Amino acid sequence: MISQRSDLTFKHNLKQGRHGWLRLTPAYSIKIVQNVLASIGKPEFVLDPFSGTGTTGLVCAELGIKSDLVEINPFLVWLAAAKIAHYHADELDAANALARDVASKVCQNMTVDDLWIPPLNYIDRWWLTERLIVLANLFDRLKNICGETAAVKLCLIAFCKVVINWSNAAFNHQSMSFKKHHQRFLPEERDMIINDFITQVQQIAASAKLPVLSKVTIHQGDSRCLDRLLSRTYDCVITSPPYPNRMSYIREVRPYMYWLGFLKSAREAGELDWQAIGGTWGIATSRLRWWQPGNMKIPHEGFENTIEQISVQSPILGNYVHKYFRDIATHIDRLSRVLAAGAKIYYIVGNSKFYDTLVPVEQIYMSLLREYGFSNVSSAVLRKRNSKKELYEFAVSADWLG
Ligand SMILES: C[S@@+](CC[C@H](N)C(=O)[O-])C[C@H]1O[C@@H](n2cnc3c(N)ncnc32)[C@H](O)[C@@H]1O
Repeated sequence: MISQRSDLTFKHNLKQGRHGWLRLTPAYSIKIVQNVLASIGKPEFVLDPFSGTGTTGLVCAELGIKSDLVEINPFLVWLAAAKIAHYHADELDAANALARDVASKVCQNMTVDDLWIPPLNYIDRWWLTERLIVLANLFDRLKNICGETAAVKLCLIAFCKVVINWSNAAFNHQSMSFKKHHQRFLPEERDMIINDFITQVQQIAASAKLPVLSKVTIHQGDSRCLDRLLSRTYDCVITSPPYPNRMSYIREVRPYMYWLGFLKSAREAGELDWQAIGGTWGIATSRLRWWQPGNMKIPHEGFENTIEQISVQSPILGNYVHKYFRDIATHIDRLSRVLAAGAKIYYIVGNSKFYDTLVPVEQIYMSLLREYGFSNVSSAVLRKRNSKKELYEFAVSADWLG
């Protein structure tokens, strides 16, 4: 029987030093990257074209393997860069001192009208007003510090953690949702939030002591144009692309993005989701209604049938799945142009189900890889997902012989 193996999910990373700094539910486990690297020996240069929170790059850096990362979301690029950076002891001391200083300057008796509040829709679903005031107060102190020094970056990551710790967000679903009942604000919470901030900075600074052993470069950009972004070749790719399951990464990380100024409006969020592969949030959904597949065929037997079956129930979802694979096909084509002869690639993907139609995602990836000239294409089940029946995660692997 195939089990859920939570050790192969982001949950395993939460207590692993820098890997646990900020959670992203679709982040994969460091074990997946470690196992792949252990099975192939030390590659010269690894690429992760969908790097998210930077798991692949950080594991490689910890093992002294060079890597390049590509990610479309500017906040995740910022976060991964901060996770992978080298920090001097005096920068870590400065982060702790800054946290104490910021905490000591939080003012009493402020209202929401005195403070900058992030322009998140329905903000009261996220935070009780009193908690929001303490958070906005902390942030106000932090943002008044000039320049994004290492200490400021570490404090901002800690702030993001505190923002979620004291929010109404729940993580018991595949993606973030809201707890059913708001709690009451207790008078002692103000100090608890401030102390949480100091503690988070201490923990982050302590885990940042461990040195990273090799260089990681992060490119903000689109993996459908890899050959324009990158100027070298790679002998290994380890990645987990978005799955065609309507999960929106922007939706998941939007509280951080609004607080830190990476997003200013819902429209902007929808635009960014539309640029991402598999995005369907806000404006991205309405654009799918009008999307046309064009001439590019997806070379997988039964693909058109699958799309037709989904489209009968929902033309938008039919377009969604079709566009997803067209984007992945473009990505795989571009990927092949930046690979060294003999390169090994590993894609961690999940299948999906729309109404009664199972989308055999791993098999379609295999067909695409063969079509674009990869050899030894295979797939292995990694784990059962905890959502619907029949949903699994697979490692799809292949060789590029050049
Ligand atoms: C499953 S997540 C990767 C998680 C990552 N393995 C980790 O551990 O954090 C997929 C990522 O692909 C990114 N993405 C989506 N479309 C992209 C594109 N066209 N180019 C580059 N990145 C993209 C998303 O923003 C998301 O962070």
